[in-house]
Formats: sequence, structure tokens, C-alpha cells
Amino acid sequence: MKTLAVETSCDETALAFFDSKKGILGNILLSQAEKHAPFGGVVPELSAREHTRNLIPLLDRLIKDSGVSPEEVNFVSFTLTPGLILSLVVGVSFAKAIAYTLKKPLVPVHHLEAHIYSAFMQEEPEYPFLALIISGGHTDLFLVESFSRYVFLGGTLDDAVGECYDKVARMIGLDYPGGPAIDRLAQKGRNLYSLPRPMVDSKDLNFSFSGLKTAVMHLLEKNPEAKPQDIAASFQSAVVETLLLKSLKAVELTGVKRFVVAGGVSANSHLRKVFRKEFLKRGIKLCIPPSHLSTDNALMVARAGMERFLKGITAPLDVNPLPNQPLQEFGKLWS
Ligand code: KG4
Ligand code: ZN
Repeated sequence: MKTLAVETSCDETALAFFDSKKGILGNILLSQAEKHAPFGGVVPELSAREHTRNLIPLLDRLIKDSGVSPEEVNFVSFTLTPGLILSLVVGVSFAKAIAYTLKKPLVPVHHLEAHIYSAFMQEEPEYPFLALIISGGHTDLFLVESFSRYVFLGGTLDDAVGECYDKVARMIGLDYPGGPAIDRLAQKGRNLYSLPRPMVDSKDLNFSFSGLKTAVMHLLEKNPEAKPQDIAASFQSAVVETLLLKSLKAVELTGVKRFVVAGGVSANSHLRKVFRKEFLKRGIKLCIPPSHLSTDNALMVARAGMERFLKGITAPLDVNPLPNQPLQEFGKLWS
């Protein structure tokens, strides 16, 4: 089975061809980061206009580079929700037009589900497992009982962890997207400053990152001579330890010892090192996508779409994107 996948939920225009047996046939992505950088974050209207401009030339390039013809695909998979609504509208309309022209089915995918399945490009998932999704818009913990059966265990009460990375980066003079910039800078710094590990002592599995951001702001006010690389390393240690402690708590509360970490922040080099070491010590199986598939891409949409299509789940041609449908609801609706 072959699919063409479309991802436009935020500021990456991405397309991929994927085969259930042969795996990756083609993968292409155009990041708009440079266009949004002068504004310090993603500008929704600009993002939608860039998707409109880029999708067709990108499809042409994907076809040329992969040697795959769109007629060969069995279905078109696409991100239906969540995301910037204008950006989703562009990608969903594009996917529909292709499906209509080729007379092929449409398969809807939830962006967070796609992140989860980015960890299974090389292997089949073994259920149940826990999933921590850490991105620019989400910090969520789910129990995945089986395909499409998602139990929400906890999430952020305020900022998402990627958003916190981006805001702290701006405070220390780094460009958008701040996550990769902090990751690189922290490698030259030392964990010198004590910062809070928010909510690690609470009994639930929720997170809160806005206080940590404020703590960094106070730290900068009190220590104007502090080196940005030491701030970056101290901030990153606080984030990773918080995520780790909450993840271990989820394992303890559920007794489930298989764990996926996905979403843009899972590309973080310190996080990958710490999680691998601590999970190995405790005999917890950890699945993290390769770092180039941690951030938004279309292969993850293709991979999740393949699961849905093989279970016979398709969408009608009048399906409409939603800015923010919770994963657990999407899972029930499209099953
Ligand atoms: O999953 P993603 O590409 O888009 C959303 O679905 O939001 O995640 C983007 C987020 C941004 O906040 C970005 O700064 C962060 O992921 N990010 C990182 C790294 N690479 C991307 N954060 C920390 N370390 C990284 N290496
Ligand atoms: Zn994402």
C-alpha cells in the first residue's frame, strides 16, 4: 500500500510518499522558519500563504526526486487537526483536490497521533504504551491502549514546553525557533543556576512551564553578567528533569513499561541522552523518533495514515479541519 501524505498544520510545508512494505519512498519539507523569525514566532496568515505558494512546486520536486507517480498511491493521508486553522485549510484542500482527481480515498490523521507514530517508522508498536508529546503547542501524556484508543493522562496547564523554549530563547537573544538554538548553546554552558522543576511533587500528571519562564526572567534581572550558555544549560536541565520525573510517575501509576517520546522538543540532545540512560536503568522500553522526524514532517502523517487505512478508516470529501480537536475524541470519532 502506498500513500501520499500532506502536513501543513503550522509553519512546515511537508509532503511524503510512504509504502507499507518498502517504507520511505520520498520525503520533502520546506521550513518557513526564516520568514517568521523577524516576528519572533509563527504568523498564522503568513504561514497559510506560504503553504499555498509552496505545495505544488514541492509536489513536483517530490515526484521527480522519488520517481513515484501520484497515480501509484492507494490513498492520500493528511493532517486534519489540530493546528493553525488557515494553514490546515490549505493542506486539507490540497489533499482533497488530489484525492478527488485521482479518485482515491482520503485518510484523516491527528497531528499528535502522527507525532506518536513517528517513533514507529522501523518497527510495529506494541500496545499498550505511554506517549509523551512535547512540541510547540503541546505537552501531553497519553496512554495508548490500542490503535486509536487514547486515554489522556495529563497536560500543561499553561505554556507548552516548546513554547517555553522559544520564549526563553528570545530572552537570551536567540532567534526563532528557539529550541534548537538553546540545545546548541547549552552544549557550551554549565548548569550553574538553580531553577524550579514545576509540579514534580504534585500527585497528578499535569505540567506547568510558565513559572519556569518567569524564573529565567528573574534570574536574568538579578544576574545581568550571567553567560547565555549557562542560562541555556540551567534552563534545559530544569525542563528535562521535570519531563523525566513526570514520565517516570506515569510509568509508576499505570505500570506500563513501554514509552514513546515525540514532538519537536524530543529532538533535544540533552533530553535524548537523559531519557535513554534513565529508562534503560529501569528496564523501560523507550521509542524516540530519529531527530529529523521529531519536528513536523509528512512521513509521520503517512505512517499514522497507513494504520488508519489498513483498518478501513477514510474521510468523506467534505471533511473540514478543526483547529483543536483533542486526540482522545478524534480517536473515538475516526475508528
Ligand atoms: O512538533 P513541532 O515541530 O511543531 C509543533 O507541533 O509545535 O515542535 C516545534 C517545537 C518548537 O517550539 C521548537 O523550538 C522545538 O519544538 N524544538 C526543540 C528542538 N527542536 C525543535 N526544542 C528543544 N530542542 C530541540 N533540539
Ligand atoms: Zn508538531
